[in-house]
Amino acid sequence: MLDTNRPQLPPEIARRRTFAIISHPDAGKTTLTEKFLLYGGAIQMAGQVRAKGEARRTRSDFMQMEKDRGISVSASAMSFDFASKERNFRFNLVDTPGHSDFSEDTYRTLTAVDAAVMVIDGAKGVESQTRKLFEVCRLRDLPILTFCNKMDREARDTFEIIDEIQENLAIDVTPASWPIGMGRDFLGCYDMLNDRLELMDRADRNKVAESIAMEGLDDPRLDEHIPANLLEQLREEVEMARELLPALNPQSVLEGHMTPIWFGSAINSFGVKELMEGIGTYGPEPQVQQATPREIAPEEKKVAGFVFKVQANMDPKHRDRVAFVRLASGHFTRGMKLTHVRTKKPMAISNPVLFLASDRELAEEAWAGDIIGIPNHGQLRIGDTLTEGEMLKVSGIPSFAPELLQGVRAGDPMKAKHLEKALMQFAEEGAAKVFKPMIGSGFVVGVVGALQFEVLGSRIELEYGLPVRFDASQFTSARWVTGEKAAVEKFINANKQHISYDHDGDVVYLTRLQWDIDRIERDYPDVTLSATKEMMV
Ligand code: G4P
Repeated sequence: MLDTNRPQLPPEIARRRTFAIISHPDAGKTTLTEKFLLYGGAIQMAGQVRAKGEARRTRSDFMQMEKDRGISVSASAMSFDFASKERNFRFNLVDTPGHSDFSEDTYRTLTAVDAAVMVIDGAKGVESQTRKLFEVCRLRDLPILTFCNKMDREARDTFEIIDEIQENLAIDVTPASWPIGMGRDFLGCYDMLNDRLELMDRADRNKVAESIAMEGLDDPRLDEHIPANLLEQLREEVEMARELLPALNPQSVLEGHMTPIWFGSAINSFGVKELMEGIGTYGPEPQVQQATPREIAPEEKKVAGFVFKVQANMDPKHRDRVAFVRLASGHFTRGMKLTHVRTKKPMAISNPVLFLASDRELAEEAWAGDIIGIPNHGQLRIGDTLTEGEMLKVSGIPSFAPELLQGVRAGDPMKAKHLEKALMQFAEEGAAKVFKPMIGSGFVVGVVGALQFEVLGSRIELEYGLPVRFDASQFTSARWVTGEKAAVEKFINANKQHISYDHDGDVVYLTRLQWDIDRIERDYPDVTLSATKEMMV
């Protein structure tokens, strides 16, 4: 719940907006991201008009597979400035993995942002992936701003789109703009928040729309720009919208109960600037972070941050890992010594990186809300907290029990040790769960969506030169085992066939029967089986 009595943030923090885009594949996330970067001055016009494949490669696609299949397997972060009419904002856009399998990565990405932009295709409305991602945002009451894209094509009726969002997602929708015409006749939008007419330029896709201030919908100058039939329709619809739909309530937006919707066409650069203005004006400032034993406020002088993603082999020439850290408080400067809370060891952060669109560059400084990358050799794990000494642990970054399990073997049996190393690394990255059964050899790998097996197989081959085979596993469910030491030991001894250890050495019970799980809960009241594990030690 949003606390309205919070102190004012230092200007450098207050100007930050950290968000992710949620959408169904093909709704236009990539195109919208490009336009964000374009207006943020982060990429040049010339680069943008090149083939999209090229533009994609320059950003988050480090993996061969992503290039081949056009899916974004790895999340990354991009920072850019946006000068709105009144203020200069710093936007941090965290890329959510785009493939259709929901993964923990996606969930964790959303723990690092303060808001989400939901992109929907005007012809398709709310699609399955959008709904899933929305539900995750809802778990955290994340504020959501909506962009209804592809209005230059035949789209659904505007009221129908709004109704669908309201009904499907159970959130109030308020129109920030209203489309004029549709498909071939789409002229632009009436900006309902600022009373402006925005006209789309079809001839130049990178041109920002002409924006004309109006004295409301009765302004006679509207006749100069809009054919009579469309103008009449616009007036009728807006009148109806004002009667039937709730007015914008900024507080309600911040609490995640209301989403403002902008209509536009990302490919024509239309509506994008208005959306960016909206993110600046109605999007949240960096928020308080839940942690134990106390929460962390962004304005605190001391730096604290947490790892929400680890990515290995970003640069195939260097076997580095980059931990993506969301700064929860303070003003970070390069070279700072931070405490790695899990190990209680100091870490000098000498080469932090900022992800500026197509490049990574050294981060000389960063503020609460920013995402920095910290190259490391495996010390930093997902869920880890870094502070200036205080033993704080950021909470709420869970690890889910995988829903699909398979055995994995190296194609060449002599390479079993190499395989173990590769698997452990992917487990640390959070790309998969890896379980080493107590009895027998080999490993069981668990994922949330089937595509992840393929991704994993291809990464192990690409990054380690190790062809692998997946086999059906006799198990289908995994549960972490906790309890008093003696009780857990007794449990392990009686169930050796089912016991394995995850990459942290924690005990995991594998089974194929829900019945087994129910039985254990009955027979071993001192032992707890859980489907999630908070990623902290
Ligand atoms: P995604 O990242 O959400 O998967 O979507 P992406 O931006 O890749 O867009 C999917 C397709 O929709 C692309 O077409 C893109 O050009 C198109 N598109 C995006 N925004 C708009 C829009 O406002 N209007 C229209 N009409 N189309 C839009 P494609 O054919 O898959 O790729 P390409 O040939 O354009 O590169």
